[in-house]
Amino acid sequence: MEDLIKVKNQIKVFVQDCNDKKSLELFDLLPEGKMLRSKLILKIAGVSAESIKLCAVVEMIHAASLLHDDVIDEAHTRRGKPSINALYDNKTAIMFGDILYSRAFTQLSQMDKNIAYTISNAVTLLSIGEMLDVELTKSFNSSYDKYLDMIYKKTASLIEASAKAAAILSGKDQEAFALYGKNLGLAFQMVDDILDITQDSQTLGKPAMLDFVEGKVTIPYLLLYEKLEEKQKLESLYKKELSDEESSWIKEQMQSSKALQQSIKLAQKLGDEAIEAIKPYKNSDLENIMNAMIQREF
Ligand code: FPP
Ligand code: MG
Repeated sequence: MEDLIKVKNQIKVFVQDCNDKKSLELFDLLPEGKMLRSKLILKIAGVSAESIKLCAVVEMIHAASLLHDDVIDEAHTRRGKPSINALYDNKTAIMFGDILYSRAFTQLSQMDKNIAYTISNAVTLLSIGEMLDVELTKSFNSSYDKYLDMIYKKTASLIEASAKAAAILSGKDQEAFALYGKNLGLAFQMVDDILDITQDSQTLGKPAMLDFVEGKVTIPYLLLYEKLEEKQKLESLYKKELSDEESSWIKEQMQSSKALQQSIKLAQKLGDEAIEAIKPYKNSDLENIMNAMIQREF
């Protein structure tokens, strides 16, 4: 999409404005993402100098959060490429994250007050969400509410804020688009949780069935745990390297208990609710984004 190139150029200009060679060098090493948040903003607000700037700000905040997240998660790859913490070290990844983050905020401070409030508030939620995530992976969590609160804050809040800010920018219904963004974010995370179980490593570009090993009791696991008679068996596999037999057992239970099917239904329900909220705007692109996201296979 040509418009996304405009966003990429804008980000580069913002980084160039830092007048720092090292920052530019690091910037060029960042792997490209799907730019979901920008697509959303441009589909809601249309393309203008102001909407492109908003996209750039949000993408820079998102990139900063991932730089920090890879340090926290000790992840050596990001989108199939070596992460900055792997290529350099943790210090570099944290500092470059701070540069991107603060540069984005300098720009945000020049924008509409309500937009600045909406985006900056989401960054607080994002940070709290990351802290909750770390907390929840310490021991087996069987609370659905806690998990939902965490994924809302960690993943959905910035997507919600992006959609809301785009609505503010273009004089549309803020609440309706905020709901669309929130549900898109929640459904995105749920689909991610499902694919971790249903897809193979090659398709995912990372080891399959990794969430549970890493301590994440995701939506399908929560639903399975609720229904399972052998609760202790599932708990005993928590945070363990799984043998083929153990992985197969989990997958079979996921199928027979309908935990997977129910998880997909949950995501679909969030999607339908979101599409309903923005119906008056007859924006078929946004309906397609939601449906494609739910039906994706990686
Ligand atoms: C990825 O989660 C992480 C996030 C979506 C948010 C991380 C947020 C912070 C580190 C705090 C915000 C900090 C700044 C500087 C704005 P994941 O580990 O589940 O996903 P992954 O598989 O993509 O790593
Ligand atoms: Mg991570």
